[in-house]
Amino acid sequence: MAALLSVEGLTKRFSGLAALDQVSFEIREGEIVGLIGPNGAGKTTLFSIIAGSQPPTSGKILFEGRDFTRVKPFRAVHAGIARTHQIPQPFLSMTVRENVEVGLRFGRDPGGARNLVKEVTEILELVGIASLENMAAVTLSVGDLKRLELARTLATRPRLLLCDEVCAGLTECEMQSILGLLRRIQALGTTIIYVEHNLRAILSTCHHVIVLNFGKKLAEGPPETMQNDPAVIEAYIGKKA
Ligand SMILES: Nc1ncnc2c1ncn2[C@@H]1O[C@H](COP(=O)(O)OP(=O)(O)OP(=O)(O)O)[C@@H](O)[C@H]1O
Ligand SMILES: [Mg+2]
Repeated sequence: MAALLSVEGLTKRFSGLAALDQVSFEIREGEIVGLIGPNGAGKTTLFSIIAGSQPPTSGKILFEGRDFTRVKPFRAVHAGIARTHQIPQPFLSMTVRENVEVGLRFGRDPGGARNLVKEVTEILELVGIASLENMAAVTLSVGDLKRLELARTLATRPRLLLCDEVCAGLTECEMQSILGLLRRIQALGTTIIYVEHNLRAILSTCHHVIVLNFGKKLAEGPPETMQNDPAVIEAYIGKKA
């Protein structure tokens, strides 16, 4: 099967620092792929480049075989690439419902006759924040803000969903609920790349794992194999003395 997303030799330099250094991988349609690596490994930078909010220094991105290397963010969204932000970025003064409606209006399917009220309700119910629909985003708890970030992103109707630490700061119970949600989203046909520090969450959710370290791809493979890979263990806990 052809790849949905191909990343080829992607490099991003910030002055002297290579946040990404010749990173290459492919994502097939329908997968949930875990993207892991220590703090500063380049995970969020990779998402920003795929979603078009930062240009790479060099390298190439293909989406369904088409060149998306320096795509504008709105074009990426219209093509079906959408990301959540590590720090949720809702419109704070708007209600939960209004935030999700913005995603629908500016997403992959912006025009045409449709029932926006019903679509927003379905998304709010899917992510479990329907009871908060009339609350201003600014009043939400950390966990509910993470759900709203996911809801806003889902509202754009992505084919490729880039999830950046949607479980960080959540309780075990909230995390399990979000992981269940990601599995449901995948089952509904969306391909997901999932950045997460919690390896248990990765093991229980992902089909495949890509490991970054200091901007380089260190390894990739099935989650069970990555968990026991000496290079991966070393990147996380350091070399034996
Ligand atoms: N706009 C920027 N200007 C300069 N350096 C940056 C910028 N954005 C990221 N970096 C640097 O690039 C490297 C990769 O950062 P990035 O945020 O992509 O890492 P990450 O893997 O998402 O880390 P974390 O797990 O902490 O979220 C870091 O060293 C970071 O300080
Ligand atoms: Mg990050």
